[in-house]
Amino acid sequence: MFKIGEDTLPIGYGLGTKWFKKSDELNTEITDSLIEAVKTGFTHIDLAEVYGNYAEFKAALPEILKLVPREKLFITDKFNPSVKDTDHTPLKHLKETLAYLGLEYVDLYLIHSPFVADHLTIESTWDECKTLKKEGLAKHIGVSNFAVKDLEKIDGVEANQIEFSPFLQAQTPGIVEYCQKSNILVEAYSSQTPVIQQDVNPELTEYLTKLSEKYGKSVGQINLRWVFDQGVLPVTTTNKVDRMKEYLDLDFKLTDEEVQKINELGAKTHIRKYWTDYYK
Ligand SMILES: NC(=O)c1ccc[n+]([C@@H]2O[C@H](COP(=O)([O-])OP(=O)(O)OC[C@H]3O[C@@H](n4cnc5c(N)ncnc54)[C@H](OP(=O)(O)O)[C@@H]3O)[C@@H](O)[C@H]2O)c1
Repeated sequence: MFKIGEDTLPIGYGLGTKWFKKSDELNTEITDSLIEAVKTGFTHIDLAEVYGNYAEFKAALPEILKLVPREKLFITDKFNPSVKDTDHTPLKHLKETLAYLGLEYVDLYLIHSPFVADHLTIESTWDECKTLKKEGLAKHIGVSNFAVKDLEKIDGVEANQIEFSPFLQAQTPGIVEYCQKSNILVEAYSSQTPVIQQDVNPELTEYLTKLSEKYGKSVGQINLRWVFDQGVLPVTTTNKVDRMKEYLDLDFKLTDEEVQKINELGAKTHIRKYWTDYYK
């Protein structure tokens, strides 16, 4: 199982959200930003079938591999289980993706959500993920956006990537506690919502600002530290080198009381950005 921390699995650089792409045209800004992120020190890269930018990752890969050897990179990919094509399964998807990217394996392969198309079940999808792990095509396997009831259907899950921020401390009831008790790494996406939307909860913003003065770090760094200090691994992104540097400069720790205070103040605001058709 992975652990949290700079020597184990570091903060992730995601190719979703702002980099999500529908057109076939190559977006060189994605390729360039990813290379810049690796130059700055990111080694954990978060991909997904649904992001539509394997081509940009592939274009960046030769440069990335000059900077960091493959065994020091941690590449996550995600299977989109909502695709209705009956041929679309994890085995087919990952094998084709690896062949396209020229990679032998991914470090982590996730089922992107529990909302599967009619030709799949959570169990059948997971069985194929286990086969991919046995075949060495995925070093680790896990899920994303799974609730406790979904996790109870399968075994051997190593990670669950969920939306997690002071404004959404439980994507679904009890999920963080359940994962942590079950030795499932919780990865947090969209954890910077209170930093992006500072106006919605002035009390929290004021407190994060106070901590930012105490530690000599930005509000964004304080917020990311809040994620780490609960044993959760953040996956973020940016196109700005200064912000990349900030995301990697988290060599400090909040006290338990400070984490608790952020929890209390953050809980006064509820903001969910993703999967709102399924989760309220
Ligand atoms: N599994 C899933 O369903 C799922 C869903 C969503 C995301 N993800 C993954 O998680 C990754 C990160 O998601 P996210 O982008 O939502 O995460 P995030 O870490 O909450 O947000 C990152 C964004 O915050 C902005 N930001 C950071 N600090 C800021 C500040 N001080 N002021 C204003 N803006 C600031 C950055 O903008 P700039 O770029 O301008 O710096 C960046 O685009 C994605 O790329 C993807 O890999 C997974």
